[in-house]
Amino acid sequence: MGKLIFPLFCLLIVTSTACALDCTQIPASEIYDSNTVNISKKDGSLQTLPGNFNCVYNVSTPTPTSSHGLYAIVTVTNGLKGVNDYILVTKITGSQQKIVSAGNEVETYKVIPGSQLSVQVLTKSVVMNSQFAISVQYHSAVIGPKVQMKTGSEMNYLDVKTINQGPFSSLTYVSKEHIVLTLATEPLDISVYDNCYLIDGTFDNQRKIYEVDDFFYDGGSKFTTISHHLTVVSFQESLIQIVLNPISEVQQFIEFYSVPIDKTETPFDSGFNTAIQLVNFDSVGIVMDGIQIVTKPCNAKVVAGPPNNSSKTILDLSTNPSKAQTFNVKDLTVISNDCYFIFTAIASN
Ligand SMILES: *[C@@H]1O[C@H](CO)[C@@H](O)[C@H](O)[C@H]1NC(C)=O
Ligand SMILES: *[C@@H]1O[C@H](CO)[C@@H](O)[C@H](O)[C@H]1NC(C)=O
Ligand SMILES: *[C@@H]1O[C@H](CO)[C@@H](O)[C@H](O)[C@H]1NC(C)=O
Ligand SMILES: *[C@@H]1O[C@H](CO)[C@@H](O)[C@H](O)[C@H]1NC(C)=O
Repeated sequence: MGKLIFPLFCLLIVTSTACALDCTQIPASEIYDSNTVNISKKDGSLQTLPGNFNCVYNVSTPTPTSSHGLYAIVTVTNGLKGVNDYILVTKITGSQQKIVSAGNEVETYKVIPGSQLSVQVLTKSVVMNSQFAISVQYHSAVIGPKVQMKTGSEMNYLDVKTINQGPFSSLTYVSKEHIVLTLATEPLDISVYDNCYLIDGTFDNQRKIYEVDDFFYDGGSKFTTISHHLTVVSFQESLIQIVLNPISEVQQFIEFYSVPIDKTETPFDSGFNTAIQLVNFDSVGIVMDGIQIVTKPCNAKVVAGPPNNSSKTILDLSTNPSKAQTFNVKDLTVISNDCYFIFTAIASN
């Protein structure tokens, strides 16, 4: 008898708020291309929250097939009024963002194929008429190709914009080793981080998802994969440039960097046990100038390609070169074993 009475009571007494506003999740039947799901009011308008409200809404996208999947754009509208009420978003990267009453009115997030974001909405006991709305738009995604990482004397670099084919693009690298990704672009030049995701793994086996700001603060703008795959996801990203190396090439060094070389001269100083990979993303030709060897004899060299033992040495720095050196290559590595020296580099084309 008691079991029957409660729902009826609920229906009759508190029709519009408490009963309608439950923690109902997005049903699987609503997850399809071009559909928009509004939480918790279907028309997308702001929902007023009672006190002691605490719901977690999960937004996930199905694991894609080898060629097709779905991604989602999630918009959270912040109508919080109570200073102790909050919305806690756990992004697909695992990092969290707390939205409070003084925060931005609208925040948007991306959910790549085969991943999940969650939004916890919480109010304290005092009813402050806080409001919120979540809108989830699903879109189809064409899964990009898988390519074998180049080996030996060939460097693996990518200007992410070159894979852009539409609103969503991806490329998966397959390696025999763990992969070290270094960011070549200066992090300060990147203002939007959620246009590019880097998956340790493939779409159907994601070990971890990174945004650039998740790794550039430590370890010299790089991370190492747990898996032997790395997937680059671009939502029309236009600035990010990366270099990938098998871990064996990186392990030999204490310091390891990648730097884009363009028509603006870049100054460098090289410490001990350091590799600096220089890439002319837009053209061919790199000029090294202003070479000043500080510690002699200088055990250092420049090789064409990555710091691999099959890469060809194109300059031996123990010869103490004084003239500008022009190399007809797209990429090279300056390797310092135990030499301190300075130089500049610029694109010759
Ligand atoms: C969902 O909300 C948006 C506004 O945020 C609105 O344009 C759209 O029509 C709503 N969807 C439905 C099914 O009402
Ligand atoms: C939401 O996702 C989390 C983490 O995967 C899971 O533990 C939780 O059960 C999910 N909640 C619902 C209501 O499905
Ligand atoms: C160089 O490349 C070869 C072939 O890809 C690879 O086996 C080797 O581990 C690489 N590493 C170094 C440090 O040379
Ligand atoms: C090349 O590097 C690999 C990995 O560091 C090493 O095992 C191999 O002996 C090296 N080969 C030569 C010819 O130096």
